[in-house]
Amino acid sequence: MKVGDKHYRSIWFDQASGEVQIIDQRWLPHEFRVVDLKTREDFEVAIRDMWVRGAPLIGATAAYGFAVQMALDPCDLSIEETWHILHETRPTAINLKWALDEMRGLLEPLPIDQRADAAMKRAHEIADEDVECNRMIGVHGLEIIKEIAAKKKPGEVINILTHCNAGWLATVDWGTATSPMYHADQAGIPIHVWVDETRPRNQGALLTSWEMNSHDIPHHLIVDNAGGHLMQHGQVDLVIVGTDRTTAHGDVCNKIGTYLKALAAHDNGVPFYVALPSPTIDWTVKDGVKEIPIEERTDTEVTHVQGKLADGTVTEVQISPDGTPGGNPAFDVTPRRLITGLITERGVCEASPQGLAKLFPERAG
Ligand code: MRU
Repeated sequence: MKVGDKHYRSIWFDQASGEVQIIDQRWLPHEFRVVDLKTREDFEVAIRDMWVRGAPLIGATAAYGFAVQMALDPCDLSIEETWHILHETRPTAINLKWALDEMRGLLEPLPIDQRADAAMKRAHEIADEDVECNRMIGVHGLEIIKEIAAKKKPGEVINILTHCNAGWLATVDWGTATSPMYHADQAGIPIHVWVDETRPRNQGALLTSWEMNSHDIPHHLIVDNAGGHLMQHGQVDLVIVGTDRTTAHGDVCNKIGTYLKALAAHDNGVPFYVALPSPTIDWTVKDGVKEIPIEERTDTEVTHVQGKLADGTVTEVQISPDGTPGGNPAFDVTPRRLITGLITERGVCEASPQGLAKLFPERAG
């Protein structure tokens, strides 16, 4: 999507330098920094320390990490080690395992001298497939927005609430939750987005707001606690969020706080949709609450916040008393009963085993 007037993906192969490049998201929106990832260790750090984040982008980054490692050392042990080292980086988003399985499955049977080229080719494909999945999510999600618009007065604004950043920065391009928003905007449907700040890391405040600004999409940044109140007062027409792992039964694991938004939406009769490319479905898991591992992150994400000082310096300050420990579960699970529908690249379905099986018969057990 756009940064200024230039089109960017969140990860790409730079022909001139021969390196994989990413936008280092830790500095957004205050500084736009592009960095090269040259070794497997660079990729490991970039995923673990959230220079890149968002389930689909984590998957694409892991695929490129595999490819870079194959160019350095394509032996069997290197394949196995790369799978494990990158898999350790973040536990919840299933796209990571999906991409690593894809790479290992492709590379293991190949002769050693063919592995580097094949790995880079597949990494490019995984990135391109993600872009196309997200574009199609936008095409299908647009129909939902059109339906809601048809029930309103002509020209009336559709208010959409989103949580975290499931935008193009969380994917390779388009975003998942944001793709229907961009498509609606391009179709001339007036929309306005309520952007949850998304404590503790503030992906909404830092990243989604930046994306909305860059594309001139009307939006307001709100505190995480405001959503329920806005829904009670008819100021939210629908909620669209992303997901880090969706179970075969339709439960959705996403950024902490998503569940509370789903409860508030349910209580107020507000449609609650989840947008996902199919690599985000974990077909081996049924009950999300019981089975999905939830990442526990460092408590300094809770006790401290990052921001920009008046002189432009980006810095971090402590907001809690010395000695108060923070608790930091990074994701929660929204049970399928609270979800109106899943928006996938193949269409919109009920959040249920039957709904998913209808769209993905070849995967459903
Ligand atoms: O911890 P993060 O920033 O990687 O979490 C991101 C999210 O929770 C997104 O909503 C999810 O990955 C969907 S991205 C299209």
